[in-house]
Amino acid sequence: MEQWKGLIHRYGARMQVANSVPPVTLFEGNTPLIPAPRLAAAIAPGSQLFLKYEGLNPTGSFKDRGMTAAITQAVADGARTVICASTGNTAASAAAYAARAGLACVVVIPEGKIAVGKLAGAIAYGAKVVAIKGSFDDGLRLVREVADKSPVALVNSVNPVRLQGQKTAAWEIQDQLGKSPDWLCLPVGNAGNIAAYWIGFNESDLARPRILGVQAEGAAPIVLGKPVLRPETKATAIRIGNPARWGEALIALQESNGMILAASDDEIIEAYRQVARLEGVFCEPSSAAGIAGLAKCVKSGALHPDGKSIVCVLTGHGLKDPDSAVEGIEKPLTVEAKFESLARVLGI
Ligand code: F0G
Repeated sequence: MEQWKGLIHRYGARMQVANSVPPVTLFEGNTPLIPAPRLAAAIAPGSQLFLKYEGLNPTGSFKDRGMTAAITQAVADGARTVICASTGNTAASAAAYAARAGLACVVVIPEGKIAVGKLAGAIAYGAKVVAIKGSFDDGLRLVREVADKSPVALVNSVNPVRLQGQKTAAWEIQDQLGKSPDWLCLPVGNAGNIAAYWIGFNESDLARPRILGVQAEGAAPIVLGKPVLRPETKATAIRIGNPARWGEALIALQESNGMILAASDDEIIEAYRQVARLEGVFCEPSSAAGIAGLAKCVKSGALHPDGKSIVCVLTGHGLKDPDSAVEGIEKPLTVEAKFESLARVLGI
């Protein structure tokens, strides 16, 4: 098989992105679609359930799909510096692709509210990291102003080129499944990803899936129908009170005959632990929101899983947020380095 060389190499002809410069790529995309029969038995009996494991992208999240496109475009446009606001994953991804292209990168993050693995990434890739005393929404407002007033390229998903990269996930799922699933379940924060999937499914000849969007209860503006001034959730990646692509999210939900709902932090954390324990797939808490929402809809009777093919998008890797993994967990047992001591705790 030909070597995988990233999304623009594979799908560039179907993406609106500059082709005047070589793609800036880390060979992102081509992530596995993993069958999840044990999780299906637990939360959606009778369904064929799959996990689109986007945490296996080069910087550990789906953001790399959009970033290969946005940074390639920025290079073609002659930018020297890129900027984004971020709950963490966009920051790490922008920093990595900017490094690859030799561009400077500035990331604006909400103080104290981003997972340590994401911050570590942004720093390692050499970005200038600025924390603000405010939310992601404040950050996005600020970086938009900076991009308006100075020659830096904005690489948040308000930049349409980002969606051109992210829409490719829809086509990968169709290729892997041989069709569209009946349902696509995913977390919704700034609503770039739900918008991008919908573009992808619309640019295919196959039937379109129904979309289940899931927000965190303390950050659920689309569910509530109004912005949330002070969003709060343990799912920090989707701690967003006024999504930039709100309108597109509503269109995707309406046109797909889909649903949007809020899951509580407890429900999200339970789904996060369940998918790791039942399937050996470790995602970050926000990524499990789609699973939590699916479980909720099946329980309430809003979604009948029997005979349905369902894809849950796991947007980011579990190692991004090690603190959430160990929070509230008992420390490992410590024993003397003797066979008898180990045998005693193992009960043999
Ligand atoms: N899942 C993860 C792991 C994310 O990092 C994000 C968004 C989402 C889901 C939601 O995607 O915003 O397109 O609706 N993270 C952004 C960031 C906001 O800055 O990394 P969305």
